[in-house]
Amino acid sequence: MRTDTPQTIYRKDYTPPTYQVETVELGFDLDPDRTIVASRLVMVSNPESVGEGIELHGVNLQLVSLRMNGRTLYEGDYDISGGILRIPAAPDRVTLEIETLTSPVKNTTLSGLYVSNGNFFTQCEAEGFRSITYFPDRPDVMAKFTVMLRADKNRYPVLLSNGNLVEEGDLDDGRHFAKWEDPFKKPSYLFALVAAKLVCQEENFRLKDGRDALLQVWVEDGNLDKTDYAMQSLKNSIRWDEERFGLELDLDRFMIVAVSDFNMGAMENKGLNIFNTKFVLANPRVATDVDYAGIEAVVGHEYFHNWTGNRVTCRDWFQLSLKEGLTVFRDQEFSADMIGTDSGRAVTRIEQVRTLRQAQFPEDAGPMAHPVRPDSFVEINNFYTVTVYEKGAEVVRMYQTLLGRDGFRKGMDLYFERHDEQAVECDDFRAAMADANGRDLAQFERWYSQAGTPVVTASSRYDANAGAFALTLSQSCPATPGQPDKLPFHIPVAVGLLGADGKDIELTVDGKKAGATAVLELTEPSQTFQFTGVKQAPIPSILRDFSAPIVLDYPYTDEQLLHLFSHDSDPVNRWEAGQRLAMERLLAMTAAAGSGGQLALDDTFIDAMRKILVDESLDPAFRENALLLPSESMVAEQMDMVNPQAIHLARQSMRKAIGSTLRKEFHAQYEANQTPGDYSPDAISAGKRGLKNLALAYLSAAPDDAINMLAQGQFDRAGNMTDRVAALVSLIQSAAPGAADALERFYAEFDNEALVVDKWFAIQAAAPGADVAAVRALMKHPAFTLKNPNRARSLIFNFCNGNPAQFHAPDGSGYAFWAEQVKALDALNPQVASRLARSMDRWRRYAPALQAQMKNALEKVAGAGKLSNDVNEVVSKALT
Ligand code: ARG
Ligand code: ZN
Repeated sequence: MRTDTPQTIYRKDYTPPTYQVETVELGFDLDPDRTIVASRLVMVSNPESVGEGIELHGVNLQLVSLRMNGRTLYEGDYDISGGILRIPAAPDRVTLEIETLTSPVKNTTLSGLYVSNGNFFTQCEAEGFRSITYFPDRPDVMAKFTVMLRADKNRYPVLLSNGNLVEEGDLDDGRHFAKWEDPFKKPSYLFALVAAKLVCQEENFRLKDGRDALLQVWVEDGNLDKTDYAMQSLKNSIRWDEERFGLELDLDRFMIVAVSDFNMGAMENKGLNIFNTKFVLANPRVATDVDYAGIEAVVGHEYFHNWTGNRVTCRDWFQLSLKEGLTVFRDQEFSADMIGTDSGRAVTRIEQVRTLRQAQFPEDAGPMAHPVRPDSFVEINNFYTVTVYEKGAEVVRMYQTLLGRDGFRKGMDLYFERHDEQAVECDDFRAAMADANGRDLAQFERWYSQAGTPVVTASSRYDANAGAFALTLSQSCPATPGQPDKLPFHIPVAVGLLGADGKDIELTVDGKKAGATAVLELTEPSQTFQFTGVKQAPIPSILRDFSAPIVLDYPYTDEQLLHLFSHDSDPVNRWEAGQRLAMERLLAMTAAAGSGGQLALDDTFIDAMRKILVDESLDPAFRENALLLPSESMVAEQMDMVNPQAIHLARQSMRKAIGSTLRKEFHAQYEANQTPGDYSPDAISAGKRGLKNLALAYLSAAPDDAINMLAQGQFDRAGNMTDRVAALVSLIQSAAPGAADALERFYAEFDNEALVVDKWFAIQAAAPGADVAAVRALMKHPAFTLKNPNRARSLIFNFCNGNPAQFHAPDGSGYAFWAEQVKALDALNPQVASRLARSMDRWRRYAPALQAQMKNALEKVAGAGKLSNDVNEVVSKALT
């Protein structure tokens, strides 16, 4: 909760810490109501510091005692204000002994030390440690930690912290203790403890250097049948990092702990990763293919942080993308390599592009737009964003595109050689990439400092006599808050040229042979690239593999797009051509729907879809993606004045037209892509299920009794959660007679599985018929609670963000509901509340009647008393 007026913190104001911490010994007497934390810090003044005195952060702490070099300090020796405890006069080398009191059970923020299902957990990134004890809680203070945990043995049989277990035993009064030592120095945000009743799956795993590491996955009793995939993913991650980057596990023990109350996906605490249950627990009965893929990605992500984040960490939180962008890139590459095939890799890339467009481009164009390395923030928790993470990963990917895989690896090696066990900046990473490859990457810095999505406008000219094709690329970047003008970026644009036969033309660019795909480097506002030896007018395939996070503007004709959709050897651009064809039509149909016109879809487009659908030479997963229409919110992003109901109508009728025209083909694919036998989450099987269930969804868009029976039959006989959920969604989407009954049975069968109950709420929140009244009714269900973030997200977020036609109801009921929930959540958990607050980011683009009501709802929240910094920053930026 806010105590003072919110302050903006600026990157330019960085100053080094006045003291470093050499060692920290922590003692915890764990009790839900009254936990005593005793801390002993050995601190030395920092020669690089310009300031003086000791500064420790602390919030919501009760200070019991404070001693410096054995002497008790009293008020006057120190002062506490604005969350900082200052000791103005201190020797160069001191030992501080601090005792504080906290009440974990009262902590509903899920930051710091808190209780979930009766167990203790911590979440310290970014600034949670300061609510556990007084400490210089900033990432450039790295210390060696020793941790003593004491707790009741019956209630908390498992006591875990970072590093190695060095001692454990019994105490009086039924209590016991465990002492943990982390051999590596680390910033406080990587501290963690768990005191809980849990069970584990464990295994010894042989590392590349011959050492054995103990791997553990800890879960609540009853969930040991759901830990195999997380364990397998952990082993795959360890192997992959050894092979791809030569990076080994540096500990003897690596633990993953699952907790059901968690704000984010997971946390990379040294040696003790704490995970949202959603990214650990899976078996075929309860988890979908998407869940399995999420577990692999997040387990990889947190494991990879051990090097990119923990061994080399961030100097300050403005550098967050240094570890997050890089680690997302690493987990993306890991997931792609786990599939192993080129086409599988392409599908993962398509999914990344979709996320970027769906979530990051809107952020970059909205009131919260910020550079990958922000210049200021009010609340750092608001900057764990798709820009820092996903756009940050695109920026890292561009190094690899520019330098090649080997060059990128050289840069990584140099980065670790220079900065192991340091807290550094994004610029240090860029310098390592440049120096290792002898490249000038000065201009590339703008990807870190300038917000906004660049637009590259392309035009071309073919000279048949000279056999020359000239491609002109011009770049611009829209203004963003605080950045009216932008300088040109260094943009790698991968380009191929297709002949009339659909084949790639061998390229010669500016006199150099370049194979089928040339990576053009656009650095000026406008540049022309000359392709020679081009014997026929080609169709350019621009931005292959989505080589940069930009919007490409090229005046493609329908005919050219159809050609690319049928032939492009680059699967990402092949998919992209289909998306462009679909988007044009969605926009036209939306315009028609808005003015009460006729919603017609041309046969040419449906034929193109048919060709892809039945092309057995293509992976099912690719075909599924190619047939998936841009979402309603993506269509909204293309419009100057958004009419959510018209978009919904247009997209539904497009689905219906495709579904009914291709009914025969969808039926055939439905049958051909069955996956009989035991469930396996591998990419081939998941791809088949994906295409089969996409076929079912299209068929259900134009339902009749036979199709309803097909969905009903799949629901009744499903052998895995992927098929069961797909069938349930189809029944609900088509308002089939069996829908309500299926929902009821689904709940009855899985009411003991929290993650499945989340799905049950989510499906209903996104149903076409779910209005605010229906959502309010669901909130009264005994299984609903605002306190559990997964549950709140499943119902409330899925409604506000995933059901635009209902959320934007003309009567404003959705907005009033949103304001109410933001306020209610904020009183419990500001981090979750401020994510929900972001649903209103794009309010200025809606039709005037909606816009006025959205603004009104924003003002209501902004005017509410006792708002957290988190929500306050989001709503006040939205209103600026
Ligand atoms: N570092 C974590 C991850 O990306 C996320 C931590 C988010 N914490 C927060 N308070 N927003 O894996
Ligand atoms: Zn991360």
